[in-house]
Amino acid sequence: MSDRHFDLLATRFAEKIYGGAKGAIRLAVLQADLIEVLPDRPLRVLDIGAGLGHMSLWLAERGHQVTLAEPAEPMLDSARQRFADAGQSATFIQASWQQLLGQLTEPYDLVICHAVLEWLAEPHAILPVLHQLTQKDGWLSLAFYNRDALIYRNLLKGHFRKMRKNDMAGEKQSLTPQQPLDPRELAAQLEPLWRVETQSGVRVFHDYMPPEFQARVQLADLLEMELAHRRHPAFAGLGRYLHWMCKPQ
Ligand SMILES: C[S@@+](CC[C@H](N)C(=O)[O-])C[C@H]1O[C@@H](n2cnc3c(N)ncnc32)[C@H](O)[C@@H]1O
Repeated sequence: MSDRHFDLLATRFAEKIYGGAKGAIRLAVLQADLIEVLPDRPLRVLDIGAGLGHMSLWLAERGHQVTLAEPAEPMLDSARQRFADAGQSATFIQASWQQLLGQLTEPYDLVICHAVLEWLAEPHAILPVLHQLTQKDGWLSLAFYNRDALIYRNLLKGHFRKMRKNDMAGEKQSLTPQQPLDPRELAAQLEPLWRVETQSGVRVFHDYMPPEFQARVQLADLLEMELAHRRHPAFAGLGRYLHWMCKPQ
């Protein structure tokens, strides 16, 4: 298995997801978590696997100095266009995380790594590199596809054969990630390097709603409820993604 750099098809699919409620909830939760902890001054930010650049653009619009690193050309092109349309500037690097240490020397105040780990052949291998790229008093914003949510969804759908085979990975060409992460395993891998300061669930109930109810609710209400329940002790762990704000140990 190798890392999955997004091709044109995956880029179009990702653009579609960002156009809907799923993307809106994702951004609302990530942004609320960041606003809570980030110091009130311009920061040097590195967005690894930056994709379409939504988070980077939001940070640039708040006055931060952003570098986007992304190996897939169609994703980076789309991000460049998004910045141009918004009249914002940033540094764009076409590179995988494996190539970054050779290219970047000074650590960053904030390193973003959102929805990338689950596309890597060896997700744990990136963790020391993220650490090296983050200032000692900086932050890592880590979001990953939650294996527990996938298990729960399979249980709800009665997909017991899949459960018995312990088969959670997506098909080769599908946009279900190849390596959903077990949060307890990841927490153990993070421990020597990172202290997890806040934990939120991204889409703790939306994706489990029957489609007819999804269609009926207003986006503003959805966002309010997802934000209000993102750290609820019973629901946070069911988030489709988990978002952890981490400080270097
Ligand atoms: C689901 S997208 C997430 C994009 C963005 N971070 C977001 O949250 O919307 C996953 C991204 O990881 C990128 N990726 C895959 N392998 C990578 C690697 N080895 N290093 C850096 N990025 C990688 C893909 O090309 C893709 O753009």
